[in-house]
Amino acid sequence: MQERLQKILSQAGIASRRESETIIAAGRVAVNGVVVTELGTKADTDTDTITVDGKPITVAEKRVYLLLYKPVGYMTTMKDPEGRPIVSDLLKGIQERVYPVGRLDYNTEGLLLLTNDGAFANMLMHPSHEVDKGYLVRVSGHVSPAQIQKLAEGVKLEDGMTAPAKVLPVSESDNNSWISITIHEGRYRQVRRMCEAVGLNVVRLKRSRYDFLEIGDMKPGEFRHLTSEEVAKLKRKTVPGGTGRGPRKTGVVARRKTAPRR
Ligand code: URA
Repeated sequence: MQERLQKILSQAGIASRRESETIIAAGRVAVNGVVVTELGTKADTDTDTITVDGKPITVAEKRVYLLLYKPVGYMTTMKDPEGRPIVSDLLKGIQERVYPVGRLDYNTEGLLLLTNDGAFANMLMHPSHEVDKGYLVRVSGHVSPAQIQKLAEGVKLEDGMTAPAKVLPVSESDNNSWISITIHEGRYRQVRRMCEAVGLNVVRLKRSRYDFLEIGDMKPGEFRHLTSEEVAKLKRKTVPGGTGRGPRKTGVVARRKTAPRR
């Protein structure tokens, strides 16, 4: 996006807008190698190289954090070689290049986070942070208590046992049942494979929760910006020593600091 040079310099933290005008007028700024002294001159930080005293400036991109209700029939990728719809098609008015935090299958709907904050996304996706993801699953027919128990205890998939999950029956009709499954792992098609492994046929899969974030009454295709409080709360979870759970220590038995009560 084309913006006035003094605004670009101040956003890059070079100087205030007023001081930047003085720097420009002094002939210290060049755009693509050409010195610019006119104050109204515009440039685009995506495509132009802007230097001050010969040194290129870097502009931090505005951080964007979005919660999208991904509809069925969209790919959670930035490009699809087969030309299918992709989630970024839904983000009208968002200029920044955002990336999905994890994936939902083409036929899965529900809560998907997108951001241009790579460090934040990587932290959330790291298995050690064990963010809870809640799914509502509609399956054909009835679900037995034994199937619920197996799903909850962990099932054997080709890539190993699944961790214990929270599994609850939600409702039942003549032909279908809804169950809710909460997992903290994020393996490929995990919920579908878990259901298949206990003999359940998934007819609809919706992610309704990501940690404390709920899809609520959003409609497929709708999105909203996360509030700064929501972003801060998610960040705290991923920072060791923050007020969230932080990464789980695996293979380490924590010692009690105080003597157990008798
Ligand atoms: N589990 C699945 O099977 N699919 C998804 O999209 C997400 C979790």
